[in-house]
Parts: sequence; structure tokens; C-alpha cells
Amino acid sequence: PVPPATPQYRPAYHFTPAAHWMNDPNGMVYYKGTYHLFFQHYPEGMEWGPMHWGHATSQDLVSWKEQSIALFPDKLGMIFSGSAVVDENNTSGFGKNGQVPMVAIFTHHNPDEEKKGTQKHQYQSLAYSLDEGKTWTKYEGNPVLPNPGIQDFRDPKVSWNTVAKKWVMTLATKDRITFYSSPNLKEWTKLSEFGEKLGAHGGVWECPDLFPLTLNGKTYWVLLVSINPGGPNGGSATQYFVGQFDGKTFTPQTITQKWIDWGKDDYAGVTWSNTGARKIFLGWMSNWEYANQAPTSPWRSAMTTPRDLALKQVGQEIYLTSSPAPEVAKLAQSAQTLKNLTAKSELGLSDKIKLTSPQFQLKLTSKQLQEFALVLSNAGGEELVIGYDKQANQYYIDRSKAGLTSFSDKFSGRHTGPRLATSPAADLTLLFDATSVELFADGGLTTMTEIFFPKQPFTQLKLRSGTGITFDALSYSKLAVAVK
Ligand code: FRU
Repeated sequence: PVPPATPQYRPAYHFTPAAHWMNDPNGMVYYKGTYHLFFQHYPEGMEWGPMHWGHATSQDLVSWKEQSIALFPDKLGMIFSGSAVVDENNTSGFGKNGQVPMVAIFTHHNPDEEKKGTQKHQYQSLAYSLDEGKTWTKYEGNPVLPNPGIQDFRDPKVSWNTVAKKWVMTLATKDRITFYSSPNLKEWTKLSEFGEKLGAHGGVWECPDLFPLTLNGKTYWVLLVSINPGGPNGGSATQYFVGQFDGKTFTPQTITQKWIDWGKDDYAGVTWSNTGARKIFLGWMSNWEYANQAPTSPWRSAMTTPRDLALKQVGQEIYLTSSPAPEVAKLAQSAQTLKNLTAKSELGLSDKIKLTSPQFQLKLTSKQLQEFALVLSNAGGEELVIGYDKQANQYYIDRSKAGLTSFSDKFSGRHTGPRLATSPAADLTLLFDATSVELFADGGLTTMTEIFFPKQPFTQLKLRSGTGITFDALSYSKLAVAVK
């Protein structure tokens, strides 16, 4: 039975399917002015089930239109995670009469094979579209990368590699990433493996991505690796490595553990393909610890906001920074800025800032970051607390009193992420939607995403600080998405 509908929990500028289950973003590709977002989808239920690829499109990354289902399970299995590319030079030969094919590379997961216990039930397959992603044809030669006998062998992310001058696939292979290359997307040759002895290993490795970014004129390669469980606050999360890729092998710069997002609700994220030097990341805004129990209906799960990625050096370390895509800032309306705001013990802000919509953005800057807590609350006494603990040098989000928590004993809690910036000055951007907050601190060096389910919307805002803190500015704006 479908639980009673929860329209109050429907996000506005975060993608959700109209109904049913969703997990990982898949096949994200930009083509002719349209951002395509495919996603792990079970269109017959609100819990994980036989996977399909759902499909949504957007021109601006913030208003999404759900399209018809792109890929259905077939005799080779369910359609697990993967990627899509624009095969501009028709290397695959799928294009006819000069048409440019869009090619999806995904994992087939075969439950019948799984029952046999041969460990060969996941393999990589292709589908192509000759009408800009509207309809898809599976390749008759599937699978293109059979399973060598590795139980977890999935989530191919393919991109044209300018160093190898070939397509390069990063594939999650249990406890490491295996790189493959191909001239035509159909024949794959193993290049190398990475990570057996590096990084976090509290769970299986999933959903990798490899892409270049430049810092001070130098190119670095970033490898994203999702892991479940073993995240810094429990359950699933995404770690990353910064290093070099010589067309064959990935060599990390350092071995410090890094997470793209320290909150509990950003998983399986990868970047859009075909966006040039701009790298736009988006993740699934949930956690395998409780995703199947989240109290929304008739859909389950949303995606994070799209984020622009960049690199930043702090001391000897090079970190990835995440910033809300500029398209999100364009939604900001009627900004209100409070200047020189000093909070000592408690400072109510509700007389100045009216939280009239669940969709809004807060930006705070301080020349001298001190311990503080920003508290959102409602008439029912629920509160969501976001703050900085100076002693521990950590940002945190505490959702233990922010509404419904009993659907899973893994949900409630106060979750932390280290402050990586070393300057006394700090800047924070907070994006709120009906059931989520995304914190981007210090130019996106520390990012935290968390979901919550208040019984009524939060209407009041206050600041707390035992030691006292001054914000040069706190600005509030509504984020308004045009209704389609
Ligand atoms: C990650 C994941 C992937 C897999 C998909 C199945 O969340 O487990 O590794 O392809 O979900 O839905």
C-alpha cells in the first residue's frame, strides 16, 4: 500500500521523480543546450526493486522535466548505474547517415546468474540514442565487458580521455577501481587498478568518476569513489583522490582521506559529461542506511543541487571545492542583508527575516570565525541546528530534533565535517529546500548535505554563540523556481 501523500516534503529545485523509487544519478550528459539526468529507478514501487533508467531533462539545472523511462530491464538483467557520452566522431558506428549517437554504458545485473553464485552476474553493456536521448536501442552485442569473476563489477563512467586519446572507463571492482580503454566503446582493454591499499574501505567501492581540473595552470586528475558503508558519519558517502593520470595509471598526490561531502546525504555522485572544462557534480540525496524508509510519498529520494567543482590548495594538500552551480543563485529573490550582526548567547532574527518559503538561501561571512549555531525552528518546537564547533574545528548539522526520525534508528543525530580552511575569515552558503540543507563552507572546502522531515515548515531563525561571533553580513533570499 502507498503511504499517504506528503506534498509538503516535495523539493522545488531538487529533482524528484513524480512517483516511485529513485537512487543514483546516471548517464549525466549535456547535449545541444539540454542537461540530461538519468537515474536508478523502480517505477513499480517506492522501495528499491528491479532497476530501470528513469530520465529527466533541464535547460538550467534547477527546473527538471521528467521524461519517459529510457532503459528497461531485459534478458541480460536489471539496468544498474552507468554513464552516457556524446560520440561526436561516431567511433561506435551507431550513428547512421552522419547522425551523432548518444551512447549509454551501464551495468547489467543479472539476478538469475547471481543465484548460481558464479560471481559473474554484473557486466557492462551499451545502448544508444539517435534522437538526443528520447529513445534508446540496446546494442545486440551486449555485454561489451564480460565479468572476469568479480562479484562487484559495476558502475562504468566513460569519458573521452585526452591523454590516452581513447575512451577511458573507470569501473568499481569491489575494493578498487579498474581502468579500461577502448577506441570504439565496444572493445575494452584493461589498463590498471587503483586503490586496493588506499582510501577508505569500510564498504564496497561504487560509482567512480575520473576527470581533469586545473589549478594555477597545472592539470590534476580527480578520482571520485563512492563507498557503502564506511562514510565519515555512517553509511554511504563519496571519497576522492587528487593525482595524475598518464593515460594508463592513476597516481594519487597524497593519501589524506578526503570526502566530497561530509553530510550523510550525498551519495553516488558523478559529473556531467560534455560540459568542457566546467565540471558539474550531482549526487543522490540519501543514504543506504535509511533510503528505503524515508517518510515521503508517492516518491522516494531527491538529487542534490548541481555543484561546480574546482581545486584549492591548503598547505601541502589539494582539495576539491564544491559550489552551488551559478544557475541556483539565479533563483534568488528579494535579498535581505543584515550587516555587522553580533550574536552573544542568543539572537532572534525572526523579526527581521521571515521564513515564508521552505526554499531559501543564507549567506554568512565573518572576519573571525567563532563558535556559533544557526537554529531553524517551528511552532511545534522542532529545530534544525547548523553550526561551527571551534574547539573541535568542525562544522556540524544536528537534525536530532528536526522532525521525523523514528523511521530508522540510523537517521537521527549530529553529524560533523572538519573545517579545512586555515584562515580566520569564513564564508558559508546554505541552501534550503523542503527537506534538505546543503552547507558550503569556506568556498566549498567543507560541504555537508543533510535531509530532514519537520512536521511543520521552519519559520523562525536565530543565532546562538556562547563566546560571541560577529558576522559582517548575513543575507537571506528566497529561491523561487518558476512553475512549469
Ligand atoms: C550505488 C549502487 C550502484 C549500483 C546501483 C544499483 O548506490 O549500489 O553500485 O549500480 O546502486 O541500484
